[in-house]
Amino acid sequence: MCASLRRRVARGAWRIVDETYLDLDDREPDGTEVKSVLACDPGAIVCNSFSKFFGMTGWRLGWAILPDDSTVLEAVDDLATNYYLCAHTPTQHAALACFTPESLAECEARRQELLARRRIVIDGLQRIGLPVEVEPNGAFYAYFNISRTGLDAWTFCERALNEAHVALTPGRDFGAATADTHVRLSYAASREALSEGLERLGRFVESL
Ligand SMILES: Cc1ncc(COP(=O)(O)O)c(C=O)c1O
Repeated sequence: MCASLRRRVARGAWRIVDETYLDLDDREPDGTEVKSVLACDPGAIVCNSFSKFFGMTGWRLGWAILPDDSTVLEAVDDLATNYYLCAHTPTQHAALACFTPESLAECEARRQELLARRRIVIDGLQRIGLPVEVEPNGAFYAYFNISRTGLDAWTFCERALNEAHVALTPGRDFGAATADTHVRLSYAASREALSEGLERLGRFVESL
């Protein structure tokens, strides 16, 4: 039994993990996929979505893996009946098609594409001199430090949008800790759009 599982059981707690980005994670050094929390804690509650790895953002479809425990099953059943009547039929057919070898190959190719985009973004921000203290892994966002520009994150984003036509998200959307010093860039856009955006961002930072 792993230590965190021991602690959870000792506290009589539930562990709820959102694994929406798990399949986009970097592989382990030996090439195997990063394991679900269920490998360590089979009693965990795991939520997932077709929104990221399968690229079905906005389809409003996901799933949960629940322990075989009537307290959880009944609670989630109550919640679920309040959340939906049912997912519509075309969405469900599309979700089933996600698990064919062809679809999985397509999704893996997209994961590789995100790695290439991540390189463009990390290198580009480094060139501009905006530090990415934690290299992104899994999701497709770089969270970088803009404090050397002398602007707070909100003003930085507002001015980057108005003056360079680059859309970024200020840190305050993600909590108080780095609300004014950090900014999030999504690299879900194409390589071309990212290169162009970084060029513009570089010129914007220089102009400050
Ligand atoms: C960590 C995380 N979990 C879940 C979701 C939501 O997925 P869905 O599109 O299924 O609502 C997102 C989407 O941004 C996310 O970032």
